[in-house]
Amino acid sequence: MEKIEFFKHNLTEEDLDRACQVMRSTFLTTGPQVAAFEKKLAQYLDSPEAVGLTSCTGAMHLVLLKHGIGEGDEVITTPMTFVATATAILEAGATPVFVDVCPQSGLLLPEAVDAAVSPKTRAILPVHLYGRMVDMRGFARVAAKHGLLLLEDAAHCLEGSRDQVRPGQLSAAACFSFYATKSMTCGEGGALVCRSPEDAAWYRSARHHGISKNASSRYTQKYEHWDMEMMGWKYNMDDIQAALLLHQIDRLDTYRQRRQDLENLYRELLADVAGLDFLEAPAPGELSGHHLLTVLLPPQVDRDEVIRLVQEMGVGCAVNYRAVHVLRYFRERYGYRPEDFPNAYQIGQRTISLPLYPRLTEAEVTRVCDTLKKVVSASK
Ligand SMILES: Cc1ncc(COP(=O)(O)O)c(C=O)c1O
Repeated sequence: MEKIEFFKHNLTEEDLDRACQVMRSTFLTTGPQVAAFEKKLAQYLDSPEAVGLTSCTGAMHLVLLKHGIGEGDEVITTPMTFVATATAILEAGATPVFVDVCPQSGLLLPEAVDAAVSPKTRAILPVHLYGRMVDMRGFARVAAKHGLLLLEDAAHCLEGSRDQVRPGQLSAAACFSFYATKSMTCGEGGALVCRSPEDAAWYRSARHHGISKNASSRYTQKYEHWDMEMMGWKYNMDDIQAALLLHQIDRLDTYRQRRQDLENLYRELLADVAGLDFLEAPAPGELSGHHLLTVLLPPQVDRDEVIRLVQEMGVGCAVNYRAVHVLRYFRERYGYRPEDFPNAYQIGQRTISLPLYPRLTEAEVTRVCDTLKKVVSASK
Protein backbone atom coordinates (compact mmCIF):
# COMPACT_ATOMS: atom_id res chain seq x y z
CA MET A 1 0.00 0.00 0.00
CA GLU A 2 1.25 3.47 -0.85
CA LYS A 3 2.76 5.45 2.00
CA ILE A 4 0.71 8.31 3.41
CA GLU A 5 3.25 11.10 3.74
CA PHE A 6 3.35 13.17 6.91
CA PHE A 7 3.33 16.32 4.78
CA LYS A 8 2.99 17.33 1.15
CA HIS A 9 3.47 20.91 0.04
CA ASN A 10 1.12 22.74 -2.31
CA LEU A 11 3.44 24.46 -4.75
CA THR A 12 1.69 24.71 -8.12
CA GLU A 13 3.18 24.75 -11.62
CA GLU A 14 2.49 28.51 -11.67
CA ASP A 15 4.46 29.03 -8.44
CA LEU A 16 7.36 27.06 -9.93
CA ASP A 17 7.17 28.99 -13.21
CA ARG A 18 7.34 32.30 -11.37
CA ALA A 19 10.41 31.17 -9.45
CA CYS A 20 12.00 29.94 -12.72
CA GLN A 21 11.32 33.31 -14.33
CA VAL A 22 13.33 34.96 -11.57
CA MET A 23 16.11 32.41 -11.96
CA ARG A 24 16.25 33.05 -15.72
CA SER A 25 16.59 36.79 -15.09
CA THR A 26 19.77 38.60 -14.06
CA PHE A 27 18.68 39.63 -10.59
CA LEU A 28 18.16 36.91 -7.98
CA THR A 29 18.36 38.40 -4.51
CA THR A 30 16.21 40.87 -2.52
CA GLY A 31 14.36 43.02 -5.04
CA PRO A 32 10.95 43.62 -6.63
CA GLN A 33 9.54 40.16 -5.85
CA VAL A 34 10.33 40.59 -2.17
CA ALA A 35 8.72 44.06 -2.19
CA ALA A 36 5.58 42.65 -3.86
CA PHE A 37 5.45 39.77 -1.39
CA GLU A 38 5.82 42.10 1.59
CA LYS A 39 2.99 44.31 0.35
CA LYS A 40 0.67 41.36 -0.18
CA LEU A 41 1.52 39.70 3.14
CA ALA A 42 0.88 42.95 5.04
CA GLN A 43 -2.48 43.27 3.27
CA TYR A 44 -3.38 39.66 4.01
CA LEU A 45 -2.61 40.08 7.71
CA ASP A 46 -4.17 43.53 7.88
CA SER A 47 -0.93 44.92 9.28
CA PRO A 48 0.83 48.14 8.25
CA GLU A 49 4.18 46.54 7.33
CA ALA A 50 5.73 43.18 6.48
CA VAL A 51 9.43 42.37 6.08
CA GLY A 52 10.74 39.30 4.20
CA LEU A 53 13.45 37.33 5.99
CA THR A 54 15.18 33.97 5.82
CA SER A 55 13.53 32.37 8.86
CA CYS A 56 11.16 32.84 11.76
CA THR A 57 14.09 32.28 14.11
CA GLY A 58 15.94 35.20 12.51
CA ALA A 59 12.77 37.30 12.69
CA MET A 60 12.39 36.75 16.45
CA HIS A 61 16.09 37.43 16.97
CA LEU A 62 15.81 40.77 15.13
CA VAL A 63 12.70 41.86 17.05
CA LEU A 64 14.46 41.28 20.36
CA LEU A 65 17.54 43.20 19.17
CA LYS A 66 15.46 46.07 17.82
CA HIS A 67 14.00 46.52 21.30
CA GLY A 68 17.37 46.41 23.01
CA ILE A 69 16.87 43.05 24.69
CA GLY A 70 20.06 41.16 25.47
CA GLU A 71 22.51 40.26 28.23
CA GLY A 72 20.91 40.18 31.69
CA ASP A 73 17.35 40.34 30.36
CA GLU A 74 14.71 37.65 30.71
CA VAL A 75 12.09 36.77 28.14
CA ILE A 76 9.08 34.74 29.22
CA THR A 77 8.03 32.02 26.80
CA THR A 78 6.55 28.53 26.60
CA PRO A 79 8.35 25.18 26.94
CA MET A 80 5.77 23.61 24.56
CA THR A 81 7.24 24.80 21.27
CA PHE A 82 9.97 24.16 18.74
CA VAL A 83 13.42 24.96 20.17
CA ALA A 84 13.73 27.98 17.86
CA THR A 85 11.50 30.08 20.12
CA ALA A 86 13.97 29.66 22.95
CA THR A 87 17.13 29.76 20.84
CA ALA A 88 16.11 33.11 19.31
CA ILE A 89 16.09 34.50 22.86
CA LEU A 90 19.52 32.97 23.50
CA GLU A 91 20.83 34.38 20.20
CA ALA A 92 19.89 37.84 21.44
CA GLY A 93 21.97 37.15 24.58
CA ALA A 94 18.91 37.06 26.86
CA THR A 95 17.59 34.23 29.04
CA PRO A 96 14.42 32.29 28.19
CA VAL A 97 12.19 31.85 31.24
CA PHE A 98 9.58 29.16 30.78
CA VAL A 99 6.07 29.31 32.15
CA ASP A 100 4.01 26.13 32.04
CA VAL A 101 1.15 25.85 29.55
CA CYS A 102 -2.55 25.15 29.98
CA PRO A 103 -2.94 21.33 30.03
CA GLN A 104 -6.11 21.43 27.91
CA SER A 105 -4.86 23.66 25.10
CA GLY A 106 -1.08 23.53 25.33
CA LEU A 107 -1.12 27.34 25.13
CA LEU A 108 0.61 29.87 27.34
CA LEU A 109 -1.92 31.77 29.48
CA PRO A 110 -1.72 35.52 30.24
CA GLU A 111 -2.53 35.08 33.94
CA ALA A 112 0.28 32.53 34.40
CA VAL A 113 2.73 34.88 32.70
CA ASP A 114 1.50 37.84 34.76
CA ALA A 115 2.30 35.88 37.93
CA ALA A 116 5.81 34.99 36.67
CA VAL A 117 7.03 38.50 35.76
CA SER A 118 10.23 39.39 37.65
CA PRO A 119 12.34 42.56 37.80
CA LYS A 120 14.53 41.09 35.02
CA THR A 121 11.62 40.34 32.66
CA ARG A 122 11.77 42.52 29.54
CA ALA A 123 9.58 40.70 27.04
CA ILE A 124 6.86 38.10 26.51
CA LEU A 125 7.08 35.69 23.58
CA PRO A 126 3.98 33.47 23.32
CA VAL A 127 3.50 30.85 20.58
CA HIS A 128 0.30 30.25 18.59
CA LEU A 129 0.64 26.49 18.99
CA TYR A 130 -0.56 24.18 16.18
CA GLY A 131 -2.44 27.10 14.60
CA ARG A 132 -4.50 28.18 17.64
CA MET A 133 -3.80 31.72 18.74
CA VAL A 134 -3.07 32.55 22.35
CA ASP A 135 -5.23 35.17 24.05
CA MET A 136 -3.49 38.22 22.57
CA ARG A 137 -5.86 40.69 24.26
CA GLY A 138 -4.89 39.17 27.61
CA PHE A 139 -1.18 39.25 26.76
CA ALA A 140 -1.39 42.86 25.58
CA ARG A 141 -2.88 43.79 28.99
CA VAL A 142 -0.11 41.96 30.88
CA ALA A 143 2.60 43.55 28.69
CA ALA A 144 1.12 47.04 29.21
CA LYS A 145 0.76 46.49 32.98
CA HIS A 146 4.46 45.66 33.37
CA GLY A 147 5.86 47.78 30.53
CA LEU A 148 7.12 44.74 28.58
CA LEU A 149 7.76 44.09 24.91
CA LEU A 150 5.25 41.67 23.40
CA LEU A 151 6.22 39.71 20.27
CA GLU A 152 4.59 36.64 18.73
CA ASP A 153 5.94 33.35 17.44
CA ALA A 154 3.34 32.89 14.71
CA ALA A 155 5.22 30.14 12.85
CA HIS A 156 2.07 27.99 13.15
CA CYS A 157 -0.50 30.64 12.42
CA LEU A 158 -0.68 32.87 9.40
CA GLU A 159 -4.40 32.38 8.91
CA GLY A 160 -5.91 32.55 12.38
CA SER A 161 -7.81 35.10 14.42
CA ARG A 162 -9.10 35.22 17.97
CA ASP A 163 -11.33 37.88 19.56
CA GLN A 164 -11.17 39.78 16.24
CA VAL A 165 -7.38 39.95 16.48
CA ARG A 166 -4.96 38.57 13.91
CA PRO A 167 -1.27 37.82 14.47
CA GLY A 168 0.74 41.03 14.66
CA GLN A 169 -2.10 43.39 15.48
CA LEU A 170 -1.55 43.73 19.24
CA SER A 171 2.19 43.19 19.53
CA ALA A 172 5.39 44.89 18.42
CA ALA A 173 5.80 42.17 15.79
CA ALA A 174 4.61 38.71 14.79
CA CYS A 175 7.12 36.32 13.24
CA PHE A 176 6.32 33.72 10.57
CA SER A 177 8.05 30.70 9.08
CA PHE A 178 7.96 29.42 5.52
CA TYR A 179 9.91 26.28 6.40
CA ALA A 180 9.22 23.18 4.29
CA THR A 181 6.20 21.93 6.29
CA LYS A 182 4.47 25.26 6.87
CA SER A 183 1.13 26.21 5.30
CA MET A 184 2.98 28.22 2.69
CA THR A 185 6.58 27.48 1.98
CA CYS A 186 9.66 28.23 -0.05
CA GLY A 187 11.77 25.54 1.62
CA GLU A 188 13.28 27.91 4.15
CA GLY A 189 12.07 31.45 4.74
CA GLY A 190 10.44 33.81 7.18
CA ALA A 191 8.87 37.21 7.67
CA LEU A 192 7.61 39.55 10.33
CA VAL A 193 4.81 42.07 10.45
CA CYS A 194 5.22 45.25 12.47
CA ARG A 195 3.33 48.44 13.21
CA SER A 196 5.27 51.33 11.65
CA PRO A 197 7.31 52.20 8.53
CA GLU A 198 10.17 53.26 10.84
CA ASP A 199 10.28 49.81 12.43
CA ALA A 200 10.09 48.15 9.00
CA ALA A 201 12.98 50.33 7.75
CA TRP A 202 15.06 49.26 10.76
CA TYR A 203 14.35 45.57 10.03
CA ARG A 204 15.18 46.02 6.31
CA SER A 205 18.52 47.48 7.25
CA ALA A 206 19.19 44.95 10.03
CA ARG A 207 18.42 41.99 7.73
CA HIS A 208 21.20 43.13 5.40
CA HIS A 209 24.33 43.95 7.44
CA GLY A 210 22.96 47.36 8.47
CA ILE A 211 24.22 48.86 5.22
CA SER A 212 22.65 51.87 3.57
CA LYS A 213 22.06 50.54 0.06
CA ASN A 214 20.53 47.19 -0.74
CA ALA A 215 21.51 45.00 -3.68
CA SER A 216 18.48 46.06 -5.68
CA SER A 217 19.33 49.76 -5.60
CA ARG A 218 22.96 48.96 -6.36
CA TYR A 219 21.81 46.90 -9.34
CA THR A 220 19.17 49.22 -10.77
CA GLN A 221 21.02 52.50 -10.22
CA LYS A 222 24.57 53.66 -10.93
CA TYR A 223 27.15 52.61 -8.37
CA GLU A 224 27.34 54.79 -5.30
CA HIS A 225 29.32 54.05 -2.17
CA TRP A 226 27.30 52.48 0.58
CA ASP A 227 27.98 52.82 4.26
CA MET A 228 27.40 50.58 7.24
CA GLU A 229 25.12 52.56 9.52
CA MET A 230 24.35 50.07 12.24
CA MET A 231 25.13 46.50 13.23
CA GLY A 232 23.20 44.14 10.98
CA TRP A 233 22.79 40.45 10.18
CA LYS A 234 22.24 38.39 7.02
CA TYR A 235 18.58 37.55 7.08
CA ASN A 236 17.29 38.97 3.77
CA MET A 237 14.71 37.00 1.78
CA ASP A 238 15.61 36.70 -1.91
CA ASP A 239 13.45 37.13 -5.02
CA ILE A 240 13.35 33.38 -5.75
CA GLN A 241 11.81 32.69 -2.34
CA ALA A 242 9.41 35.63 -2.71
CA ALA A 243 8.29 34.49 -6.18
CA LEU A 244 7.48 31.05 -4.79
CA LEU A 245 5.50 32.55 -1.91
CA LEU A 246 3.68 35.45 -3.55
CA HIS A 247 0.68 33.59 -4.92
CA GLN A 248 0.46 31.01 -2.17
CA ILE A 249 -1.07 33.83 -0.11
CA ASP A 250 -4.17 33.69 -2.37
CA ARG A 251 -4.77 30.06 -1.40
CA LEU A 252 -4.15 30.28 2.36
CA ASP A 253 -7.77 30.60 3.43
CA THR A 254 -9.09 27.80 1.18
CA TYR A 255 -6.37 25.50 2.48
CA ARG A 256 -7.01 26.53 6.10
CA GLN A 257 -10.68 25.53 5.69
CA ARG A 258 -9.67 22.20 4.17
CA ARG A 259 -7.37 21.45 7.13
CA GLN A 260 -10.17 22.39 9.53
CA ASP A 261 -12.51 19.92 7.81
CA LEU A 262 -9.85 17.21 7.97
CA GLU A 263 -9.23 17.91 11.66
CA ASN A 264 -12.97 17.56 12.33
CA LEU A 265 -12.92 14.21 10.57
CA TYR A 266 -9.96 13.07 12.72
CA ARG A 267 -11.82 14.15 15.87
CA GLU A 268 -14.86 12.15 14.78
CA LEU A 269 -12.97 9.00 13.77
CA LEU A 270 -10.78 8.88 16.88
CA ALA A 271 -13.47 9.87 19.38
CA ASP A 272 -14.00 6.30 20.59
CA VAL A 273 -10.37 5.45 21.39
CA ALA A 274 -10.27 5.01 25.17
CA GLY A 275 -7.67 7.23 26.83
CA LEU A 276 -6.78 9.15 23.65
CA ASP A 277 -7.23 12.90 24.05
CA PHE A 278 -7.33 15.85 21.69
CA LEU A 279 -6.23 19.26 22.80
CA GLU A 280 -9.04 21.75 23.24
CA ALA A 281 -10.79 22.67 19.97
CA PRO A 282 -10.93 26.35 18.93
CA ALA A 283 -13.76 28.29 20.60
CA PRO A 284 -16.75 29.35 18.46
CA GLY A 285 -15.80 32.39 16.39
CA GLU A 286 -12.11 31.63 16.74
CA LEU A 287 -10.21 30.79 13.56
CA SER A 288 -7.32 28.37 14.01
CA GLY A 289 -4.64 28.02 11.37
CA HIS A 290 -4.97 24.22 11.87
CA HIS A 291 -1.28 23.86 11.27
CA LEU A 292 -0.75 20.49 12.95
CA LEU A 293 -3.02 17.66 13.99
CA THR A 294 -1.75 16.34 17.29
CA VAL A 295 -3.35 13.80 19.59
CA LEU A 296 -2.35 12.74 23.07
CA LEU A 297 -2.00 8.96 23.22
CA PRO A 298 -3.40 7.05 26.22
CA PRO A 299 -0.88 7.59 29.05
CA GLN A 300 -0.15 3.88 29.50
CA VAL A 301 0.98 3.24 25.89
CA ASP A 302 4.56 3.64 24.75
CA ARG A 303 4.37 6.63 22.40
CA ASP A 304 7.69 5.98 20.72
CA GLU A 305 6.72 2.36 19.99
CA VAL A 306 3.39 3.56 18.53
CA ILE A 307 5.30 5.90 16.22
CA ARG A 308 7.58 3.11 15.09
CA LEU A 309 4.67 0.79 14.30
CA VAL A 310 2.50 3.44 12.63
CA GLN A 311 5.42 4.35 10.37
CA GLU A 312 6.06 0.68 9.62
CA MET A 313 2.45 0.45 8.45
CA GLY A 314 3.07 3.21 5.91
CA VAL A 315 1.80 6.29 7.72
CA GLY A 316 4.08 9.28 8.28
CA CYS A 317 3.94 10.87 11.72
CA ALA A 318 6.03 13.11 13.94
CA VAL A 319 6.34 14.57 17.45
CA ASN A 320 5.59 18.26 17.96
CA TYR A 321 7.10 18.62 20.48
CA ARG A 322 9.01 17.12 23.34
CA ALA A 323 9.03 20.00 25.84
CA VAL A 324 12.02 22.29 25.34
CA HIS A 325 13.12 22.15 28.99
CA VAL A 326 13.82 18.40 28.78
CA LEU A 327 16.11 18.69 25.77
CA ARG A 328 19.73 18.05 26.66
CA TYR A 329 21.09 21.55 26.10
CA PHE A 330 18.46 23.14 28.33
CA ARG A 331 18.70 20.40 30.97
CA GLU A 332 22.47 20.78 31.17
CA ARG A 333 22.56 24.56 31.02
CA TYR A 334 19.70 25.30 33.42
CA GLY A 335 19.35 22.06 35.41
CA TYR A 336 15.71 21.61 34.50
CA ARG A 337 13.81 18.52 35.56
CA PRO A 338 10.74 17.23 33.70
CA GLU A 339 8.44 18.11 36.61
CA ASP A 340 9.44 21.79 36.50
CA PHE A 341 6.79 22.32 33.79
CA PRO A 342 4.55 19.27 34.22
CA ASN A 343 1.82 20.19 31.72
CA ALA A 344 4.26 20.79 28.86
CA TYR A 345 6.17 17.66 29.87
CA GLN A 346 3.02 15.50 29.84
CA ILE A 347 1.93 16.80 26.43
CA GLY A 348 5.46 16.20 25.12
CA GLN A 349 5.45 12.61 26.41
CA ARG A 350 2.06 11.68 24.95
CA THR A 351 1.84 13.67 21.73
CA ILE A 352 1.93 12.37 18.18
CA SER A 353 1.29 14.45 15.04
CA LEU A 354 -0.65 12.88 12.18
CA PRO A 355 -0.76 13.93 8.51
CA LEU A 356 -2.70 17.18 7.90
CA TYR A 357 -2.50 18.97 4.57
CA PRO A 358 -4.97 20.01 1.88
CA ARG A 359 -4.09 17.22 -0.56
CA LEU A 360 -4.79 14.55 2.07
CA THR A 361 -8.01 12.71 1.17
CA GLU A 362 -10.81 11.59 3.50
CA ALA A 363 -9.93 7.97 2.62
CA GLU A 364 -6.34 8.61 3.74
CA VAL A 365 -7.51 10.13 7.04
CA THR A 366 -9.64 7.03 7.57
CA ARG A 367 -6.62 4.80 6.90
CA VAL A 368 -4.44 6.86 9.28
CA CYS A 369 -7.07 6.53 12.02
CA ASP A 370 -7.58 2.79 11.45
CA THR A 371 -3.80 2.29 11.61
CA LEU A 372 -3.47 4.28 14.81
CA LYS A 373 -6.39 2.48 16.44
CA LYS A 374 -4.93 -0.91 15.58
CA VAL A 375 -1.51 -0.02 16.95
CA VAL A 376 -2.86 1.60 20.11
CA SER A 377 -5.19 -1.28 20.98
CA ALA A 378 -2.37 -3.80 20.40
CA SER A 379 0.04 -1.90 22.65
CA LYS A 380 -2.27 -1.61 25.69
C1 LIG B 1 6.72 27.18 16.73
C2 LIG B 1 7.89 27.42 15.83
N1 LIG B 1 8.67 28.49 16.07
C3 LIG B 1 9.73 28.77 15.30
C4 LIG B 1 10.06 27.97 14.24
C5 LIG B 1 11.30 28.30 13.44
O1 LIG B 1 11.01 28.63 12.15
P1 LIG B 1 12.20 28.78 11.09
O2 LIG B 1 12.63 27.41 10.74
O3 LIG B 1 11.57 29.51 9.94
O4 LIG B 1 13.25 29.56 11.76
C6 LIG B 1 9.29 26.85 13.94
C7 LIG B 1 9.68 26.01 12.79
O5 LIG B 1 9.34 24.91 12.59
C8 LIG B 1 8.18 26.56 14.75
O6 LIG B 1 7.43 25.50 14.52
